[in-house]
Amino acid sequence: MSMRVTTVQRLWTDAEMAATLENDARRGLTATPKDLPPKWFYDQRGSELFDAITELPEYYPTRRERWILSERAGEIADLAGAESLVELGSGSATKTRILLDALTSGGRLHSYLPFDVCEEALASSGEEIAQRYPGVSVRGVVGDFERHLHLIPRLGRQLVAFLGGTIGNLMPEQRLAFLRKVRAGMTLEDHLLVGADLVKDPVRLVSAYDDPAGVTAEFNRNVLRVLNRQLDADFDPDGYEHVAVWDPDAEWIEMRLRARRPHRVRLHRLDLAVAFEGGEEMRTEVSAKFRPDGLAAELSAAGFRRVRYWTDPDGDFSLSLAVAC
Ligand code: AVJ
Repeated sequence: MSMRVTTVQRLWTDAEMAATLENDARRGLTATPKDLPPKWFYDQRGSELFDAITELPEYYPTRRERWILSERAGEIADLAGAESLVELGSGSATKTRILLDALTSGGRLHSYLPFDVCEEALASSGEEIAQRYPGVSVRGVVGDFERHLHLIPRLGRQLVAFLGGTIGNLMPEQRLAFLRKVRAGMTLEDHLLVGADLVKDPVRLVSAYDDPAGVTAEFNRNVLRVLNRQLDADFDPDGYEHVAVWDPDAEWIEMRLRARRPHRVRLHRLDLAVAFEGGEEMRTEVSAKFRPDGLAAELSAAGFRRVRYWTDPDGDFSLSLAVAC
């Protein structure tokens, strides 16, 4: 039994979420080339598939970030002196415990606010954390971090964590807008902790996003299942091949779904029919990889000053700690 009540607050009502998905799907499926935003991967099954990805031998980011966090959590806690930890895109929050251990042993932390699109992931991770840290009140928030950041409750001196490299899933212009919104919600004594994946050998990058076990492929196709359920659509997920390519100019991995055959898809809720050519590719995610200086420049363009930068020994992944300025 939990000692504390875990609350989950919905900033995103079902109706609003449905309207956003309808807009995204209508826009993306009628564009050339077609695309869908990656946030729609994360229903319960998608969140579970993502967790399975983090266990794959090819998917290095999670292990690398966990290593850096374990090494640096004490330093982060000392510098941040946080009373509340806000975690954007918390998912199952497995790495968060490293931070919570350090922040609670410092003795100041009283609140943890995980923020995610997936209510199921929030409810189960929030409950586990509430049991493990009885002195910390857990207030989950369901929302879209591109729209609801300003509604997250501020509970004392904050450490805002955006881990996992999720910043790379935003397009460059969304990234700046997003960081500015994060900045707007922070005071001069708050800290931002960002995990970002780094540019490296494309062969390793591609294999991290195209594993032989096919878990990433299933994760990619899951967006079609979400559309089928939410928009009363008739995508055949097996009719699409998983594609992961490295774009050397943009320096990002792009995931796509490639139609195996020409066909039409109906989305009844949108009153829309969409034609796919055989071999046609629809973009479902970009995952940008960063260079240390580029990231510092983006942070400063958004009104932050980076105070610490760490990587793992192989230089695969990075953590940046920044303050508002
Ligand atoms: C959500 C940023 C952690 O881009 O690496 C994993 C999502 N996509 N495999 C990433 C993802 C394909 C992931 N993050």
